[in-house]
Amino acid sequence: MGLSFIFKKLALVAVTLTLTATSVAAQTQPGCESRCGNISIPYPFGTGDGCKISSDFFITCNTTFNPPKAFLDTSNIEILDISLDGYLRISQSIGYDCYNKVEPSYFATWMWFSKFSLSHTRNKFTAIGCDTYAYVKDYLGHTYSTGCLTFCDNITNVVEGSCSGIGCCQTAIPKGVRSYHVTFGSSNNHSKD
Ligand SMILES: *[C@@H]1O[C@H](CO)[C@@H](O)[C@H](O)[C@H]1NC(C)=O
Ligand SMILES: *[C@@H]1O[C@H](CO)[C@@H](O)[C@H](O)[C@H]1NC(C)=O
Ligand SMILES: *[C@@H]1O[C@H](CO)[C@@H](O)[C@H](O)[C@H]1NC(C)=O
Ligand SMILES: *[C@@H]1O[C@H](CO)[C@@H](O)[C@H](O)[C@H]1NC(C)=O
Repeated sequence: MGLSFIFKKLALVAVTLTLTATSVAAQTQPGCESRCGNISIPYPFGTGDGCKISSDFFITCNTTFNPPKAFLDTSNIEILDISLDGYLRISQSIGYDCYNKVEPSYFATWMWFSKFSLSHTRNKFTAIGCDTYAYVKDYLGHTYSTGCLTFCDNITNVVEGSCSGIGCCQTAIPKGVRSYHVTFGSSNNHSKD
């Protein structure tokens, strides 16, 4: 699992959002792009005027990339997949807190969505580490707060494929939330290694 050098690392790579406003229809509007690279763009999403139901469903197709990449509206939120059963899968940064005597690095990742909520059935808050408290709460810190902790005294105790608190932990994301802010803590300040 390559955990020996990762002290704290949060994986929230692909976030699935629930499309609350409208169910996704299969047909792209006539005269509109139906694809961006290998991502298909069903209505109500669209890349131009008359192609989308409203600005919330605007997609920027950036052809500078090869293959082209799709972004939500004018944000840097990259879309990985739009599924017809009403989910949008996006790519997001992983937060981390990595120990290194010379140059420790820390990144508390966060995101908020104006229109869509995080799917509580298709996302799991996941942390990897051996001395790690990982917290997730809404961006303003008012509506929810949860997290998980993971320890391992010896990397050989970590069971590959398991995520139950030894080297890896997971918890659910509450229903209907529209933002997250991930932070980290440690009981030993990494001093055990
Ligand atoms: C699109 O292509 C990329 C890279 O070739 C691949 O990783 C990804 O899974 C593809 N996405 C879909 C929806 O097919
Ligand atoms: C496309 O991506 C490139 C590289 O990140 C960026 O410089 C450019 O502004 C983007 N174009 C649009 C239309 O967003
Ligand atoms: C971890 O466990 C292995 C195998 O049981 C053992 O050889 C090694 O000495 C242990 N390492 C530490 C730091 O305790
Ligand atoms: C944790 O380590 C950092 C960096 O080495 C140090 O500045 C800080 O004082 C330590 N905190 C505690 C509680 O030991």
